[in-house]
Amino acid sequence: MYDLVIRNASITHPDGTTAAGDVACQNGRIAKIDSMISAVGREHIDAAGRLLIPGVIDPQVHFREPGATDKEDLASGSRAAVRGGVTSFLEMPNCNPPTTDQEQLDWKLARAASSCAANFGFFIGATCDNLEALNSVRPACGIKIFMGSSTGDLLVDKQEHLERIFGNGERLIAVHAEDETRIQDRTRALLKEGETADYALHSRIRDPQTALIATERALALSEKYGRRLHILHLSTSEEVERLRRHKPDQVTCEVIPNHLFLNTDDYAQLGSRVQMNPPIRNPANASGLWSGLHQGIIDIIATDHAPHTLGEKSQPYPNSPAGMPGVETSLPLMLTAMQAGQCTLAQVQQWMCSGPARVYGIKNKGQLAEGFDADLALVDIETTWPVRDNEVFSRAAWSPYAGRELTGWPNYTIVGGQVVFDNGQIRPGVFGKALEFARSD
Ligand code: DOR
Repeated sequence: MYDLVIRNASITHPDGTTAAGDVACQNGRIAKIDSMISAVGREHIDAAGRLLIPGVIDPQVHFREPGATDKEDLASGSRAAVRGGVTSFLEMPNCNPPTTDQEQLDWKLARAASSCAANFGFFIGATCDNLEALNSVRPACGIKIFMGSSTGDLLVDKQEHLERIFGNGERLIAVHAEDETRIQDRTRALLKEGETADYALHSRIRDPQTALIATERALALSEKYGRRLHILHLSTSEEVERLRRHKPDQVTCEVIPNHLFLNTDDYAQLGSRVQMNPPIRNPANASGLWSGLHQGIIDIIATDHAPHTLGEKSQPYPNSPAGMPGVETSLPLMLTAMQAGQCTLAQVQQWMCSGPARVYGIKNKGQLAEGFDADLALVDIETTWPVRDNEVFSRAAWSPYAGRELTGWPNYTIVGGQVVFDNGQIRPGVFGKALEFARSD
């Protein structure tokens, strides 16, 4: 007897063809995919023709545990993830205390194992003096370097420190590429000491050059040392153009929905809700990012889910924190874009499922194929449903997309062959597992 049988699903294969079929799960794996599976399971789901896709892997989230669990903890963040069809996440080190050594990493791994509804992996955060830990901690999906300051204290912007990190070790380095010197110079020039300003100033201070300078610098370091580099939340068409000219084999990059679906016009309505690092850009910018995705210059999609409370956000600029929740809306946003003809289902699966598994060497995930882990999302692309702040699962309890009508919300999310999200409800007692990394753990 199978653990779970999903009947009459619409299944898209990696070549883009879609066919009706059944899927059986056993011992956490996809045991069988066939046009009809008559064997019984302990649980059955009638998919009623809805779309079954591999669970999304979100390769950049900030949950806030330890340190600011009033905004999010690993449990609440993971519940938000599965509500949005995300079955695995990679979490950033800028909590408090930051994840910069084995002890903190072990703490998070243990905490996640007993509380997370989705599978989890963690970055190790770079400081100026933790080189040994960067290369020795296990398991970690990669090293995170904040080249420009953002939430938290992690910052490595001096050349000698960057050289030391890029020049020693083999683990993947993921960079937040914004140039700290330019951020400081422009803050001084554009924001008078002690004054507050319109939130839109944020996008002018951290302008496209701020991102491009740091991206160039990270690329140069990667080339000098042959080091595996992943550029997080690439946000400008200028960076896409730079990579179009030359993207070394060891370099990958990502874009986040906020840079595809929001722009500087949104400050007027949404104010600090849309303040993030790197900032949202002018309305013309997104088309460059979309072409980067279509041409394979941008490899994958992450969310940079960064929950802050609306209370904190209501402070005047520059005291309002940067970041917005997003882990539960990325798949519906992309499937809505697919319905509008901006991309295909095969691309969504490549950018959000198989791509992140490839970039981070995550074993056995990201594909709807026999033998792969049974991490799945059954989504409804017939019905639209609005984003509503009061329905958000993240403890932040708001979304920059509130009011948008989206299609492609999951009815069911399945982690390791177990239903964890069932038509709006989390099933208690289902836990994800620590991800395994082929490349860098
Ligand atoms: O806007 C952001 N917020 N960008 C980051 O890189 C960090 C994040 C956070 O943790 O709040």
